[in-house]
Amino acid sequence: MPSRVVVTGAAGFIGGHVARRLIAEGMEVCAVDRRDPEHDLVAGRNLSEVLGKPGFSFQCVDLADRGWESVLRGTDTVIHLAALPGVRPSWGARFDEYATCNVIATQRVMDASVTARIPRIIVASSSSVYGRTDGHPSPETTPTRPLSPYGATKLATEAIALAYAQRHDSVTSVAALRYFTVYGPRQRNDMLIGRALSAALGGAPLPLYGNGEQSRDFTYIDDVVEATLAATCSRVSGAVNVGAGTATSVREVLRVAEQLTGCRVPTKPMSAVDGDTPATLADSARAHGVLAWRPRVDLVTGMRRHLAWLQTQSVVPADATA
Ligand code: NAD
Ligand code: UGA
Repeated sequence: MPSRVVVTGAAGFIGGHVARRLIAEGMEVCAVDRRDPEHDLVAGRNLSEVLGKPGFSFQCVDLADRGWESVLRGTDTVIHLAALPGVRPSWGARFDEYATCNVIATQRVMDASVTARIPRIIVASSSSVYGRTDGHPSPETTPTRPLSPYGATKLATEAIALAYAQRHDSVTSVAALRYFTVYGPRQRNDMLIGRALSAALGGAPLPLYGNGEQSRDFTYIDDVVEATLAATCSRVSGAVNVGAGTATSVREVLRVAEQLTGCRVPTKPMSAVDGDTPATLADSARAHGVLAWRPRVDLVTGMRRHLAWLQTQSVVPADATA
C-alpha cells in the first residue's frame, strides 16, 4: 500500500472520489489542482468530504507551469488525473487548452516524478483513444485511432507517461487506466447521465446529439475508484481498460432515467457531433487478471445512486469544463 499519494486533478469529479477513498484508507494525500476549492464552487463541492481531514493537504497549482515540483517530496505514488476532459468541445479554438492540460502538463508531471524517483504512477487515459469500433469489446491491443482531438491528447498522455517510465534513469512504473464513460454523484455536468436525470427532475432539456443510438460502456464511479486504488498497489505497466463491460445506448439511458424518476426526460434534438464514436465497450480481462478488479455496480443501481445524490442538491454549480 502507498503511504503518501499525490493526486493531480483532485478537485475534479473522479479526483475528489479518489482522494476521499485514500483518506478513508488512512493514507496521506496531497491534492493538486488549478481550481482552488476555496474559490471554485465545483472544486469545493468535490473536496468537501476531505478538506480539513487529518492527512489531507491541497496545493493550487497549474501543472503546465514549473516551480511546483516540491509537492512531490516524500511521495511514493502519483495518481495523475488532471486533464481537460470532454470529447465534443475539443475541436477548434479550445484545443490549445487541451494540449496544455493533457500534453504539456503530463510531460511536466512525468519529468518531475521520474526526477524525484517516484516508484509508482497511475495515469488517467480514456476509451476515446480507440476511436470508431465495431461494437465488439476492445481489448488493450486494439489499434488506437482517436476520432477527436481530445482522444489524441489522451493517447499522447499515455505515450509520454510510458516513454518516461522507460528512461534509463527511471525507477518509475506506470499504468495508464483507460476509463470508460464514468458516472455517479458529482459527475461533470457536461455529461449524459447527470444531464438526463436533471432534465427529468425539471432541469434544462437534454440536448440529444444525433439519433441517440450511440452506445457507451457506462462505468460507475465507485468501480473506477476501486480499479485506481488496485493499480496503486500493483506494478502492472502499460494500458489497462477500466469499463463495466456492458454497452447501453443513449436512448436506453433515457428510458432508465424515466423509469427511476417516473418523469419524462425532455430532449432537444441536436446534430451528431464529430468525434462522438458510435460505440464503446471495454474488454476488461486484463484488469480482472492483473488488478483482480471486477465491476460491481450495474447501470440501474448506479443511476439510482446518482439520482439519490442529485435529489440532495439544491443548486448544482456550473462546471467550468461544461
Ligand atoms: P474533471 O474536469 O472533473 O477533473 C479534472 C481536474 O483536472 C479538474 O479539477 C481540473 O481543474 C484539473 N486540471 C486540468 N488541467 C490542469 C492543470 N493544467 N493543472 C492542474 N489541474 C488541472 O474531469 P474528470 O471527469 O474527473 O476526469 C478525470 C480524468 O479522467 C481526466 O484525465 C479525464 O481525461 C479522464 N477520464 C474521464 C472520464 C469520465 O468519464 N469522466 C473517462 C475517461 C477518462
Ligand atoms: C466521456 C467523458 O466526457 C470523456 O472525458 C471521457 O474521456 C470519455 O467519456 C471516455 O470514456 O473516454 P462521453 O462518452 O462522450 O465522454 O460521455 P458523455 O458525455 O456522458 O456522453 C455519452 C453519450 O451521450 C455521447 O454519445 C453523447 O453524444 C451523448 N450525449 C451527451 C448527449 O446526447 N447529450 C448530452 O448532453 C451529453
